[in-house]
Amino acid sequence: MHVGVVGAGYVGLVAAVGLAAAGHDTAVAEADPAKLAALREGRVPFYEPGLQEWLDSVAARMTFVESAGSLPPCDVVLIAVGTPSGPSGQTDLTQVRQAVREVAATARPGTVVAMKSTVPPGTGLELVRAYLEPAGRDLAYVSNPEFLREGKAVDDWLHPDRVVVGAAEPGAGERVAELYRHLGAPLLMTDITSAEMVKYASNALLATKISFINEIANVCELVGAHIDDVARGVGMDPRLGSHFLQAGIGYGGSCFPKDTRALDFTAALNGYSFELLTAVIEVNRRQRIRVVQRLHEALGGLAGRSVAVLGLSFKPGTDDTRESPGVEIARMLAGAGAEVRAYDPVARLSQEAEQVLGPGARRTATLAEAVAGAQAVVVATEWQEFREADWAAVRRAMERPWVIFDGRNCLDGEAMESLGFTYFAVGRQVGRRRQAAVAARAGRPCE
Ligand SMILES: NC(=O)c1ccc[n+]([C@@H]2O[C@H](COP(=O)([O-])OP(=O)(O)OC[C@H]3O[C@@H](n4cnc5c(N)ncnc54)[C@H](O)[C@@H]3O)[C@@H](O)[C@H]2O)c1
Repeated sequence: MHVGVVGAGYVGLVAAVGLAAAGHDTAVAEADPAKLAALREGRVPFYEPGLQEWLDSVAARMTFVESAGSLPPCDVVLIAVGTPSGPSGQTDLTQVRQAVREVAATARPGTVVAMKSTVPPGTGLELVRAYLEPAGRDLAYVSNPEFLREGKAVDDWLHPDRVVVGAAEPGAGERVAELYRHLGAPLLMTDITSAEMVKYASNALLATKISFINEIANVCELVGAHIDDVARGVGMDPRLGSHFLQAGIGYGGSCFPKDTRALDFTAALNGYSFELLTAVIEVNRRQRIRVVQRLHEALGGLAGRSVAVLGLSFKPGTDDTRESPGVEIARMLAGAGAEVRAYDPVARLSQEAEQVLGPGARRTATLAEAVAGAQAVVVATEWQEFREADWAAVRRAMERPWVIFDGRNCLDGEAMESLGFTYFAVGRQVGRRRQAAVAARAGRPCE
């Protein structure tokens, strides 16, 4: 087929390369001139493991243009532009509307427009009424939400758990499903609004699991239980599953925060108060604040204290710093008067990482530079470099009281304490604090 893709971000570029690799002639529209220039030189403009090599192997079947209006005639046009949060949690559909408007004005009759961007339930039908029907050229609309994960996007594209296609006309849905047939994934064909809802319900349930295990971890700290063992025991039940039971400082990134807020907003807009989801969002917000509160206690205040934040991307394997817990914690600490130095192995040189930190927090080029003279270290992203760091050397480079907050429970707490650190984590207590919590608990009546 001749396929067009609008938006060459994490989703759009992976989809475009994947479709070119499957033998389709693929044209990509990217509005950002810097990204477009990189792509025309054959470079992936962001960090995604394996994508550059994959692009190199299929570059001959791909073309890059500056707007959706400049795409050549296509059988299917995928829309993969950004859908960020508006100020009240609603989805900002500006990029989506612009892209659909451009496609509707220029696509040849019969083109199928497939929405890969995450848009709130009901959006597709509204886009059809507002842009596709008035164009009068028999343009069909299909909802085709994407489930890939940054950092694992290439593998996720090639091995999807499922392909979801929501269409009003079976022919249009079939044409989009055809693009994925060779991947052998289970296919769910449904109506447009249900397909949109599958994406939100999935992300909301994953976020719920994260906030749930974080609340269990917080209670573990109070009763002297160990979250690693608790999560392992819970995950042994196949009805519950072992995924997404990793306690920590909460979810971030370009999807979960905005998608949970958007679903909460959509429910409210339709007259329903989604209490459970509201709590999930609030628990996630507070989980980050707990780090700041702990450090405030441990350091006897934050003003003038020196703190290193390790990890600015929202998870390992990506340079994406959107709604990253590490960035937010760095900003909160700096706002409370701490001198913050932040380091990330991949986001370390990006312009974006410099800007998102804000005043009072400085990015460093190495881990050693970030921790030198620091009184506390926060591990905000579980990069392998942090797991494998020479923590004895880090302790020597730091100043008293040598506090470490392991926000991802990725270090050996006992080993950290034996190196002289005061070790905090989420739902885990080691050494003296564990004994103290158990003793305190034993002294209380059993309700
Ligand atoms: N990032 C993920 O892991 C992920 C996973 C699943 C779904 N999604 C959803 O996919 C969508 C895209 O996410 P992303 O992370 O790839 O976004 P992104 O911000 O990385 O990429 C979007 C790209 O679209 C370009 N763009 C915007 N308007 C354009 C237009 N009119 N013409 C041409 N280019 C245009 C932007 O310049 C940008 O490069 C979002 O709705 C997101 O929620 C993302």
